[in-house]
Amino acid sequence: MDLSGKVAVVTGSGRGLGLAYAKALATAGASVVVNDVEPAAVDAAVAEVPGSVGVAAAVGATESAEQLVAAAVEAFGKLDVLITNAGILRDRVLWKMTDDDFDAVIKTHLRGTFTCARAAAIRMREQGTGGRLILISSPAGQRGNFGQTNYAAAKAGIAAMARTWALELARSEITVNAVVPVAATEMTKTIPAFAPAIEEAERTGQPYPAWLRHDEGLGTVEDVTGLITFLASDASKAITGQAIGVGGDKLALWSHPAEKEVVHRDGGWSADDIAGSWNFPSETYGIPS
Ligand SMILES: NC(=O)c1ccc[n+]([C@@H]2O[C@H](COP(=O)([O-])OP(=O)(O)OC[C@H]3O[C@@H](n4cnc5c(N)ncnc54)[C@H](O)[C@@H]3O)[C@@H](O)[C@H]2O)c1
Repeated sequence: MDLSGKVAVVTGSGRGLGLAYAKALATAGASVVVNDVEPAAVDAAVAEVPGSVGVAAAVGATESAEQLVAAAVEAFGKLDVLITNAGILRDRVLWKMTDDDFDAVIKTHLRGTFTCARAAAIRMREQGTGGRLILISSPAGQRGNFGQTNYAAAKAGIAAMARTWALELARSEITVNAVVPVAATEMTKTIPAFAPAIEEAERTGQPYPAWLRHDEGLGTVEDVTGLITFLASDASKAITGQAIGVGGDKLALWSHPAEKEVVHRDGGWSADDIAGSWNFPSETYGIPS
């Protein structure tokens, strides 16, 4: 896939998935602005991503978003692709989650995605040559996940924003999709079900076992980069408003929420009517542990 002439911003690209995205885009020919809240990680990423420039800033604030777009324009003359990847976890069960836990995660993921996408959309609309907003969501946002009130809410919100912005930006030929990745990173090492397999693979240098790659869709960060590169390219111009899962050996299209069973009753439904005729099967929820 050739991304020559494209300019991309990748937030949170100091390590993990973001760094892999930045490297893959640069390898495909794009000019990349790398970003992280950690200045040392930005310097290291600039050294690893050919031709890149770096911006050390915490996404969430409007000023950081504007700084990222300005850096792309100053260094490379324009902006074609934004990947909102920066993220943190502050996992706690509901009754132990503090206001700070909630606000920090919402600020980085949800507000960070909003402010960066807004700044990018303003610039892309001025340019008039279309664009790509690639928003990073999560299985937790699609299903809910134990201990992740803040994160699940932010990631569900990000998928909802992708659907909303796909509508709003269609006329400007700016596509907006949510990517639902799974990969072995510092973040997934905190998940007890995955930690032993990831640590084993790191220790032995062996590939991840087939059950993990195939069934759980968990592999390396490089396994996610094919979808990101495709979505950044001209080849994906007809794809917008989608939530697309990727990881290990798996590529998946998530469904949008939709009414599953519908019944009507003339005059509407009282509580007793509902109690007397409720026969909807319950939907499953939560990421299987
Ligand atoms: N790893 C997975 O399996 C997985 C699954 C679903 C979603 N995700 C999402 O993918 C993204 C990357 O995850 P990862 O596993 O590579 O995590 P990671 O912790 O390895 O990397 C996240 C990076 O974001 C940076 N960051 C944090 N707050 C920031 C801020 N305010 N501004 C700029 N940079 C900031 C961190 O310093 C770090 O370098 C996150 O949005 C995460 O929620 C990851």
